[in-house]
Amino acid sequence: MNIQVKHGSIQDIQTDAIILNLFEGVEVPAGATGAVDKALGGAMTELIRMGDFKGKLNQTAAVYTRGAIPAPRVVLVGLGPVADFNVDRARQAAASAARRARELGAKSIASTAHGAGTGQIDPQVAAQAVAEGTLLGLYEWTEHKSKKENNAQIESFTIVEFDKEKAPAIETGARIGEVVARAVNLARDLINQPGNVLTPAALASAAQERAQQVGLKCTVHDVDWIREQKMGAFLGVTQGTVQPPQFIVMEHEGASGDPLVFVGKGITFDTGGISIKPAEKMEEMKSDMAGAAAVIAAMTAIADLKLPIHAVGLVPTCENMPSGTAYRPGDVLRARNGKTIEVISTDAEGRLILADALCYAAEFKPRAVIDLATLTGACVVALGEDVAAGFFANDDDLSRQIKMISEATAEKLWRLPLYEEYKEKIKSQTADVKNSGGRFGGVGASAMFLAEFVSYPWSHWDIAPMMWNKSGSPPYVNKGGTGFGVRSLVELARRWQSQ
Ligand code: BES
Ligand code: MN
Ligand code: ZN
Repeated sequence: MNIQVKHGSIQDIQTDAIILNLFEGVEVPAGATGAVDKALGGAMTELIRMGDFKGKLNQTAAVYTRGAIPAPRVVLVGLGPVADFNVDRARQAAASAARRARELGAKSIASTAHGAGTGQIDPQVAAQAVAEGTLLGLYEWTEHKSKKENNAQIESFTIVEFDKEKAPAIETGARIGEVVARAVNLARDLINQPGNVLTPAALASAAQERAQQVGLKCTVHDVDWIREQKMGAFLGVTQGTVQPPQFIVMEHEGASGDPLVFVGKGITFDTGGISIKPAEKMEEMKSDMAGAAAVIAAMTAIADLKLPIHAVGLVPTCENMPSGTAYRPGDVLRARNGKTIEVISTDAEGRLILADALCYAAEFKPRAVIDLATLTGACVVALGEDVAAGFFANDDDLSRQIKMISEATAEKLWRLPLYEEYKEKIKSQTADVKNSGGRFGGVGASAMFLAEFVSYPWSHWDIAPMMWNKSGSPPYVNKGGTGFGVRSLVELARRWQSQ
């Protein structure tokens, strides 16, 4: 689908459906909605007066224009009360409206940038949210379905702005939103893909293919390189599978100077290894590479937007399998920085591959490193499925920036503490550290384990609660792989330049 921006009146656009909005409690529509209402002889005012449309957030109604304007139908979408309006509500409303238009069979749609008028949102920000909401809301994962359920696809989306002065900002916002949403949808595709298809080699090829399309440098290292690098913790995890491990490095040099480095956990399937997981819900562990997907996708968006920053993406990727060659509980592994690790659970594999990647990140002399990982069930227990991801930071300034970005993107990230006491839990009798501290405080212990391998401003995002949507809400997220983190990483990169 392509996105265009047009300057003019939305009622003059020739398209299958025009999308208009209404705030809750408004009796007589104004702006673009008001203009179309007049052209339709008050059809929408009537809908409101009858109580059939209240403007509740994400509520939709179809209105037929019967030749009064070129578009045959209007999809009216509610924005909720003006007082509660924000950018995320614009994103949600755009998704709800686009989905309704697709259900009605529209192939082309046009919309205003919700919130750029009465909503008092910066027009560029509003256009970005509307582009994102539309593309994210229309996402479907049908690759392995013989019969596609929705045969009508929306092929074109036009954002219409009446005010000529706002048009360039709308254009910029639409372009950013398009790039960001495509990146999120790329991450979703990778996360939804089953483990037999998305092997570590397939993940590396996907990264390389997309990187090439956007002019991003992407190098894939094989097991020999991983050995040369003395990444003993990573090698321990991968020794049980026949699938070769890969170490993906992506680099965008939009500016000189020390880089911002992103690291993503790329376990393409996590059986738990010898400390095998229960069978129930084990299929969800195909998504244990959601951190890797977010990093790869965000890097492609950063390159596509030609952001004036130096950014590096690092992805250690392998499979965690039980077998005759698998690593065992009790094994001692030596990480790249020389620290020895006693393996208590082979199911605490994410922190092992990240340990080596975090050591390697130091080679880039990073200004900051952010790692994303579906690291612990404990984080899901603490924060709840589809509610928020947890983050840790060893730097308060970086933490403040992350909180601001989380506010801006509505990707909820809640800071958790790096208390020294968690370190006690991962003390080993045999080695320098052990990879599991038991059930209680499991998320804090996992972060303190990672802290053993960092030497720079750093933040760890445990995205396990958010990797796979179960609720089907908000409307721009489908059940399945979410692509959580992509929007925040790109936003962080966009703001990074100005400091
Ligand atoms: N990939 C899992 C964590 C996970 C669980 C992600 C549920 C998403 C949903 C991770 O590798 C894991 O198995 N962690 C263990 C650690 C424990 C053995 C210390 C866990 O959380 O149980
Ligand atoms: Mn595991
Ligand atoms: Zn895992």
